[in-house]
Amino acid sequence: MGGTAMTQTSPATQTRTPLIAGNWKMNLDHLQSIAFVQKLAWSLADSKHDYATVEVAVFPPFTDLRSVQTLVTADNLKLGYGGQDVSQHSSGAFTGEISGAFLSALGCRYAIVGHSERRTLHGESDAVVGAKVQAAHRHGVVPVLCIGETTEDLEQHGPSAVPVAQLRAALEGVDAAKGLVVAYEPVWAIGSGQAATPEQAEQVCAALRAVVVELYSSELAQTTRILYGGSVKSGNIAAFMREPNIDGALVGGASLDIDEFAKIVRYQKHIGV
Ligand code: PGA
Repeated sequence: MGGTAMTQTSPATQTRTPLIAGNWKMNLDHLQSIAFVQKLAWSLADSKHDYATVEVAVFPPFTDLRSVQTLVTADNLKLGYGGQDVSQHSSGAFTGEISGAFLSALGCRYAIVGHSERRTLHGESDAVVGAKVQAAHRHGVVPVLCIGETTEDLEQHGPSAVPVAQLRAALEGVDAAKGLVVAYEPVWAIGSGQAATPEQAEQVCAALRAVVVELYSSELAQTTRILYGGSVKSGNIAAFMREPNIDGALVGGASLDIDEFAKIVRYQKHIGV
C-alpha cells in the first residue's frame, strides 16, 4: 500500500529526512573524485537543492576519502560521505582492513556494512556484518546496513523472510539508538536494470520497520531510515519515494552519472512527488 496521499498525510514520513546515497563501488580515483564531487555540488547548488529536505551522501573508495573531505571542508559543502565498508576490529594486525576510527577521523558520517557484494564475494556472514555494525557505532559512524534476498531466496521463502532474518541477525546486541540506516537491496535487482516494483519494496521495508519496532521501540522505528537499492534511476525514484516506508535510495550505477544522480536527488522537483 502506498500512494501520494498517504505520504503527504503520514506524520511518520515527516520525521525522517530522505537520504539519497551514491555507492560508487570501485570506481573513480582520488583525482576523479574531486572533479566529480565539485560538479555534483555545483549542479545541486544551481538547482538550489535544500539538503535539509533531502540529504545527500556519497560513498567513494577509501583512497578518495581524504580528497573528498578536504573539498567538502574547504567549500563548506553540505554533502555527506562515508566508507563502503568498515572493519569489525578497531586496530591491529588486520592487513588491508580499515578501522572505523580512521573513517571517523576523516569526517565520515556513514559506513556501508554488509553490501551484497561483500557478503557474496568476500564471504561476510550475518555475524561479521553485525560485528561491523557495532564497530561503526564504537567510532561514531552510522552504519548503512544492507540486506536483501537472492532470486533463490525469493522463490523458496517469499519476499520478506530472508531480509527480515538478516536484519534480526545483524542487530543482535546492537544499540540502534546510536544511529542506523537500513538499505533493502534485493540481490537480483542490483546492477541488473530490473528494479523491484515500489509495491514489492514497500512490502519488505514495512516488514523491516516492524522488526525495529519489535527489537527496540515504535519511536525508534519512526526515526530509522529504510532505503531501497537496486537499479534506481531518475525515472523510477519518485515511485519508490511515494511509498510510506521507503525513506531514500542507495544508488550504484546511476550515482556515477552526475546529471542522473542530481536528478535522483531532486526527485521532488522534476517529477513532482
Ligand atoms: P545499482 O547498485 O544501483 O547499480 O543497482 C546498487 C547497489 O549495489 O548499492
